[in-house]
Amino acid sequence: MKISGSGIHLPAPGLFVLAPALRVEYSLISEAEMTKLGVNIDHIATIRQARRALEPDPVAAAVLAELAGADGITVHLRQDRRHIHDEDVRRLRATVTTRLNLEMAATDELVQVAIDLHPDQATLVPEKRNEITTEGGLNVTANTAPVAAAIKVLTQAGIQVSLFIDPDIEQIDAAADLGALMVELNTRAYSEAAPKSPDLTGEALDKELTRVIQASERARRKDIKVLAGHGLTYRNVRLISDIPEIEELNIGHNIIARASLVGLERAVREMLQAMGRGIEA
Ligand code: PXP
Repeated sequence: MKISGSGIHLPAPGLFVLAPALRVEYSLISEAEMTKLGVNIDHIATIRQARRALEPDPVAAAVLAELAGADGITVHLRQDRRHIHDEDVRRLRATVTTRLNLEMAATDELVQVAIDLHPDQATLVPEKRNEITTEGGLNVTANTAPVAAAIKVLTQAGIQVSLFIDPDIEQIDAAADLGALMVELNTRAYSEAAPKSPDLTGEALDKELTRVIQASERARRKDIKVLAGHGLTYRNVRLISDIPEIEELNIGHNIIARASLVGLERAVREMLQAMGRGIEA
């Protein structure tokens, strides 16, 4: 639970009793310190690219997400440009009024693109050509040189750098050794444990949640800002957003998935209207 100056924000009923083994910290924080939400809009571009069409436009999605209260917009400019394109990032840079976070591999090419397009933040992620989505965190201990070089160049260009890493103490320590000021903890393992635990409790879930909590605490002790994301859903998000050290979550798939359903009825009605059939009972 986080307690803000303007009110007490309770977790979903029962979360305390459902996860008794977990340490839940109570902290007095201001409204400004509530967990922020960065919305990943890659899937909007994925739908567009399914037809190589003009719609839906990620820029329109970013505007709507911001109007709804999103604290930031995230896109992943993949090396194969399978969904988001350079031109999308350029237009988002001109439109986003919150924070633009560019996920990218730590390659020379992408570092140069980031310098040219100047997002507020660059999140360095590992990338495999055939993966459906980012599969794991950066192995900072094994890729020290390219990661260190990317951090240096991007920081010099005035872009804040975050490292997407698994919630492992060694990775946190390695990130700190590289001078990282921000990390995003990979919640994929936590999220994958959650569906096997319908009541959000049990050994597997507790283990993964504990890893995220311990990594968050370690990072904060090293003065590293902590973000988290991957696989978070409307059902499993609360145990992560209640971790006091985590300042921001990046969520994409589940938000866009829900949008496609909650917006479908209206979209069908609007098509009927466009066909001149008006609103049917
Ligand atoms: N953070 C990173 C680094 C990612 O690569 C992704 C997926 O693009 C996310 C967060 C968001 O994950 P999801 O789409 O599962 O919410």
